[in-house]
Amino acid sequence: MENRIQEIVSKYYAPENIESIKIFNGRAIVTLRNVAEDTAMAAELTRLVSGVDGIKKASIVYTAEKKVAPLQEEPAKWQLQGVKKIIGVASGKGGVGKSTTSVNLALALANLGLKVALFDADIYGPSIPTMLGYEGVPPISFDGQIFQPFENMNIASMSIGTLIDRSQPLIWRGSKACGALEQLLTETNWGEIDVMVIDMPPGTGDIQLTLSQKLNLDGVVIVSTPQDIALIDAVKGVNMFKRVDVPILGIIENMSYYLCEKCGTRADIFGHAGARETAKELGVDFLGEIPLHLSIRENADNGTPIVMAEPESPHTGAYEDIAAKIKRKLDI
Ligand SMILES: Nc1ncnc2c1ncn2[C@@H]1O[C@H](COP(=O)(O)OP(=O)(O)O)[C@@H](O)[C@H]1O
Ligand SMILES: [Mg+2]
Repeated sequence: MENRIQEIVSKYYAPENIESIKIFNGRAIVTLRNVAEDTAMAAELTRLVSGVDGIKKASIVYTAEKKVAPLQEEPAKWQLQGVKKIIGVASGKGGVGKSTTSVNLALALANLGLKVALFDADIYGPSIPTMLGYEGVPPISFDGQIFQPFENMNIASMSIGTLIDRSQPLIWRGSKACGALEQLLTETNWGEIDVMVIDMPPGTGDIQLTLSQKLNLDGVVIVSTPQDIALIDAVKGVNMFKRVDVPILGIIENMSYYLCEKCGTRADIFGHAGARETAKELGVDFLGEIPLHLSIRENADNGTPIVMAEPESPHTGAYEDIAAKIKRKLDI
């Protein structure tokens, strides 16, 4: 099937422009890159690909580079039907626990009785599907027109990772992913959602800027470890979001300390309270600290985040406290 689709698409587009062809439950998603969006061509390709034996429905996704509008211009917003509030989870650098925090916060917000969506926008290391335990391309909605989000553990979720080929170079992912993000965000049948949590890529690049401007972000949470180097990057993040008028909900210190399970001794492996002090200096709230703990890592990496796996644990309590603060700040 894939070869047949490849053949069809190759008649119109050069091989280097065909990012990926994915088939799932009779649905084909052809992702094109570095080419201008062409509605007529997309319609024709959709028709041809849907005609392939075994394919019920086809979608053509363009990941053409979109220039970020200058800050003074008010860009056209992306409309997410039914989604009331949107918050970003950001970090200055990778590996500080942004995704772990996103997924556990999303679950903790759901425990507070909210309808929650989790969107994975981290084109460099999309890990939400692993953490929530789903894979494959997103299912199609009942009307056959738009994506249906994955529904796991009471969370509606979509990930850019299901569309991109991770063996592809970082280059296009960095500068050309905005089109794919826009499609996934705006062409998904989210349903009624109280709050959407977005796991953003690390750093302060175009994607963060675009998401800040195109979505009316109600706020952003910055995750940092207590280490100096991570905090310097966190400060950059805070400053970027301030510049584009996105409210900073606060800073979370992750891998804050280590509590020995055997002897109960507390060790401040990366130093301690750095994030709390930095938050104070920047005039933003400190939302709380999450310890470095084996079961936080194991559960996230195994597809059952700790808030789900160990609802009574103190770590879950830490996430729930932060979720409650965020809920209050968002006024929901
Ligand atoms: N509080 C924590 N305790 C133990 N391990 C953690 C904690 N937070 C994150 N990790 C682990 O650290 C690694 C990086 O976390 P991840 O959330 O993927 O970071 P990021 O999204 O910022 O790159 C993962 O293996 C994760 O399980
Ligand atoms: Mg991540």
